Amino acid sequence: MADTEELAQGYTRLNKTQVGAGAFLIEKLGIDPGMQVLDVGCGPGDITSHLADLVGEKGGVVGIDPSKERVTLALQRATSNLSFQVGKAEDLSQFSTASFDAVFVNSTLHWVQDQPAAIKEFARVLKPGGRLGISGGSGDYLTHQERIKADILSREPYKQYPEDAPPKFLKQKEMDRLLDDAELFNKIFFVNKIVKATKDADEMIDWLDTSSSGKTYGGIPMEIRPRAREEMKVEWNKLVTDSGIHMDMELLVTVAYKG
Ligand SMILES: C[S@@+](CC[C@H](N)C(=O)[O-])C[C@H]1O[C@@H](n2cnc3c(N)ncnc32)[C@H](O)[C@@H]1O
Repeated sequence: MADTEELAQGYTRLNKTQVGAGAFLIEKLGIDPGMQVLDVGCGPGDITSHLADLVGEKGGVVGIDPSKERVTLALQRATSNLSFQVGKAEDLSQFSTASFDAVFVNSTLHWVQDQPAAIKEFARVLKPGGRLGISGGSGDYLTHQERIKADILSREPYKQYPEDAPPKFLKQKEMDRLLDDAELFNKIFFVNKIVKATKDADEMIDWLDTSSSGKTYGGIPMEIRPRAREEMKVEWNKLVTDSGIHMDMELLVTVAYKG
């Protein structure tokens, strides 16, 4: 399903979890004044704008995202050292080789369909000595969300509509190999353990909808999504406690350098 203006706007309201993950990645990657930074999968640009504050007037930040709806929102934040373009991770041909000091990829890589090509592109646009930072769901950890989604998608009638571009969460071992293939070195991995807390099932599903640009439902057609949402709600309701729902998550955070 294509992104929508509503989901894009909703994301800016509900993305506190991704902003926290981005702060962790910034701390591990190190973003300094004067750097040129590429933010891949920038969404509506909240974190990109913060990166621009960190690099200051002598630096520059470019955010790219394939969603026109999200880039339209992000463009409202553009300044002299911050710009946005529609674009995707697998094809960074609009950028010259060796043009960035850092490539920043937060909560995005699992949506990228050709991850090996994307990581090679990240390496190509980095300057020698430049650094890549990636944070996203880990393939070494199964969340309640993945379990519930797989359960619903395996039921009738939903299983008749397979997802054509499912998210792919990399295991650390797989990430390690892709970085080697792209000739990125001095790799450091961290596991960022976080808890996604919501007051109820609806708030959890709304966050998942806006974060996935509507892909929470895989390939399920629009007209039966409300029914699938009700079935998801039943599953999430089983996890409600007196203090709402708490979903444990493990993010794989990776920093690697171009030789
Ligand atoms: C959960 S949002 C993360 C946005 C932002 N990085 C943040 O941390 O708030 C995931 C973003 O990945 C983008 N995306 C999906 N496929 C992509 C691709 N192939 N290349 C780059 N970005 C992609 C989506 O449009 C969406 O804006």
